[in-house]
Amino acid sequence: MPALVLLGAQWGDEGKGKATDLLGGSVDYVVRYQGGNNAGHTVVVGDQKYALHLLPSGILSPGCTPVIGNGVVVDPAVLLSELSGLNERGVDTSKLLLSGNAHLITPYHATLDKTTERFLGQRKIGTTGRGIGPSYADKINRVGIRVQDLFDESILLQKIEAALDFKNQILAKLYNRRSISPRQVADELLGYADQIRGYVADTSLVLNDAIDQDKVVLFEGGQGTLLDVDHGTYPFVTSSNPTAGGACTGAGVGPTKISRVIGILKAYTTRVGAGPFPTELFDEDGEALRSIGREFGVTTGRNRRCGWFDAVIARYATRVNGLTDFFLTKLDVLTGWERIPVCVAYEIDGKRVEELPYNQSDFHHAKPVYEYLPGWSEDITKAKTFEDLPKNAQAYVKSLEEMSGAPISAIGVGPGRDETIQVNSFL
Ligand code: GDP
Ligand code: IMO
Ligand code: MG
Repeated sequence: MPALVLLGAQWGDEGKGKATDLLGGSVDYVVRYQGGNNAGHTVVVGDQKYALHLLPSGILSPGCTPVIGNGVVVDPAVLLSELSGLNERGVDTSKLLLSGNAHLITPYHATLDKTTERFLGQRKIGTTGRGIGPSYADKINRVGIRVQDLFDESILLQKIEAALDFKNQILAKLYNRRSISPRQVADELLGYADQIRGYVADTSLVLNDAIDQDKVVLFEGGQGTLLDVDHGTYPFVTSSNPTAGGACTGAGVGPTKISRVIGILKAYTTRVGAGPFPTELFDEDGEALRSIGREFGVTTGRNRRCGWFDAVIARYATRVNGLTDFFLTKLDVLTGWERIPVCVAYEIDGKRVEELPYNQSDFHHAKPVYEYLPGWSEDITKAKTFEDLPKNAQAYVKSLEEMSGAPISAIGVGPGRDETIQVNSFL
């Protein structure tokens, strides 16, 4: 039975939450493997709308065990409030499993995230301010605090002291802020320990056993390929690996166990925060995409930057993730345009370029080369099969598929679970 990875093929917010939820009913485990509560995954079930930040979207499917893997950074206050918010709405969260090796986001990480952004001024990344980067930085610097440290008070305090030693100097001397008391941080974290203890498990062992027993395991990415710290538009990226390889390191599962990698791809492009975006629109088309597509951040409420579909990026996502399928979302948003521009290549310093530029400065100079595809005006939100789509919508999907390098196996025509055309089965 398959282990599947489902990830963002662009700059995040492609509709991963909806796609995960759609598969949730047929999946035994849904696993977050990287990122943290910088994610905002929307799931619409009937007339109920859920916004999940840290928990895997599979938590809404009763038969499915949600897992937070070792590669995730966990803010314990957010974890508990998200769980209790779901409990209040009648969702059973008792099956959640949390890796003891996952790193914590502490209050000082969030403080440093915000102060660093302020310090950067014009050069800021536009982070979500949730402490993601500073927590991963501590992990790599070997001064991170892990979930398992919550259960040993003396170790916890020692580790917090080690982590704050240097940071307090920076806060006081560089940022002119008050230093943070290790004891106070330890007490706050210890206050969460008892509520979290029951969820902690050796998640790598659980997941490998599950795969060996032919269970279906779905790895749900946060963010997207172009926000990957290695393969994205560095430095305008998040601090983890949303790309497919991240599922292996972030969950403790070997690459030979993964049978399918599904890229979630919006029928146009959006981005939140700073950084290059060749097809970005600053005109009424961009405004229309934002208002029709409701492109406002789930986590920070910021306006998303909007632009046309970029096939160079889609091809790149196919390459660096080894995608086997695409799930094309939000096709319905494009209804009503007479012709739809699609970026097929870039022009960089007078030369046509078909692949994502390897060099950052080249990407900043990339101008989109557009092909114009005929649009459609019919409402497509009730379409159930590919043939139900108007001919021009079918042709749009087929063109994107040819340009992007992997089959489009599902098409989203609305936010709801049933507003999906399944072309090929994922399981
Ligand atoms: P994620 O971060 O990748 O899970 O995506 P977000 O939830 O941040 O943003 C995607 C938005 O698009 C959400 O509001 C979804 O409800 C919505 N959505 C997902 N698929 C479709 C679709 O096919 N059509 C429309 N109109 N909305 C969709
Ligand atoms: P989902 O999972 C879109 C962006 C931020 C910023 C950069 C770094 O909903 O697709 P961070 O706080 O991670 O250090 O910010 O990454 N970003 C996202 N953009 N969707 C997301 O998540 C994002 N998570 C982070 O806007 O540009
Ligand atoms: Mg989102």
